[in-house]
Amino acid sequence: MPELNIRKLHPVIGAEVTGIDLGKPVDAATREALSQALSEHLALVFPGQDLSPEGYLNAGAAFGPVMRQHYSQHHMPGYELIGLVHHQNGQRPAERWHTDHTNHEKPPLGTMLYGVEIPSSGGGTSICSMRAAYDALPEAEQQKLCGLKSVNQLDIDREDTRDEDEERYGKPVVHPMIRTHPVHGSRAVYFHITKVQYIEGMSPDLSRAYMEDLLRRMVTPEVTYHHKWRKGDVLIFDDRATLHRAHGDYDRSEKRVLWRILVEGDKPRLV
Ligand SMILES: [Fe+2]
Repeated sequence: MPELNIRKLHPVIGAEVTGIDLGKPVDAATREALSQALSEHLALVFPGQDLSPEGYLNAGAAFGPVMRQHYSQHHMPGYELIGLVHHQNGQRPAERWHTDHTNHEKPPLGTMLYGVEIPSSGGGTSICSMRAAYDALPEAEQQKLCGLKSVNQLDIDREDTRDEDEERYGKPVVHPMIRTHPVHGSRAVYFHITKVQYIEGMSPDLSRAYMEDLLRRMVTPEVTYHHKWRKGDVLIFDDRATLHRAHGDYDRSEKRVLWRILVEGDKPRLV
């Protein structure tokens, strides 16, 4: 097993991991150490990785089986398990706080990004701990949220979804708004505002207003790690207990290209 060096990047969320080449298959003990580190720190940065698409799939597999992404128009040609994140051809950065693929019965446990082309400034990724956000809410609101469920579908605000993806992934899926982390055992707030049609028992408008209000109160610098990209960084964040967003504050004549992998997760549940 390689010697993993783990250094915190923020008091609450995020750590840097060195001492591992993610392009090579890892043994069971290393997989377990990585799972524990992700569950504890919620975002891990592996600097200086040099990965082919095959090597990158190995990096994903270090955290679990890799999951197919539902917007097939963004698949890397020849590698349907890798998504291309770039903002050419009118694509907009995902600047709203969200967690990925919540319209699936089993949403991903984590999202991995690999920095391939990085603009000279701006274009970072922020990750917010929904575990710390849950802990900071008043007890009465924690209890209220524990009784709420969201009904999820493909993004409400997208126009480029292919018919075959709509057909395959268009069915509504219900999730608890608070979920228990299967490895860590802690609770976290769990929703993706533009994938929630409504919260059960609330109108769509009221549901959205409540989620907007929650985001305003929960997302603070005290519980957020901001990642400034360097070419060769691999970043993975724990989708079970975080929200993330991109920053579009870079010169669009420069390129920002990230490769994305999703790692299979389990069905969200509250215990
Ligand atoms: Fe995302």
